[in-house]
Amino acid sequence: MPESIPPSLATLIAAARRLRERAHAPYSRHPVGAALRTTAGAVYAGCNVENAAYPLGLCAEAAAVAAMVAGGGGRIAEIVIAGPGERPCLPCGGCRQILYEFAAPKMQVHAVGAGGEVTSHRLGDLLPVAFGPRNLQDTER
Ligand code: THU
Repeated sequence: MPESIPPSLATLIAAARRLRERAHAPYSRHPVGAALRTTAGAVYAGCNVENAAYPLGLCAEAAAVAAMVAGGGGRIAEIVIAGPGERPCLPCGGCRQILYEFAAPKMQVHAVGAGGEVTSHRLGDLLPVAFGPRNLQDTER
């Protein structure tokens, strides 16, 4: 691992890789692990959980967010997604929206491939002009 990776990020990378080993992905054979750190410093992780009824499958990022909420909630400071391939595994569109609920546009999304290469993006670049809680407040209910 390159020296330029701070210890806090290295911890998340290790956790995401550990969780990837626990993924239930017999259908896609694409195990994914995700680990996030909240702005308060707590770490939560998850893996993808597929189902024989394919559309019911859960992404690793969604599982990590569910663990965060179950663990007391918070705001996400950064997240690491560890996929099985050489190419970094970027979050799907639905997961970008799930992350947006709990993160600022500047939140760092790190994708790490099997070879250890880390690619980082701001959430706001992955999901620009997003729909969020603020948009709902404009609705009369
Ligand atoms: N998957 C994730 O868990 N996270 C991603 O960022 C992309 C895709 C899962 C969903 C499915 O179980 C498998 O990877 C193949 O799409």
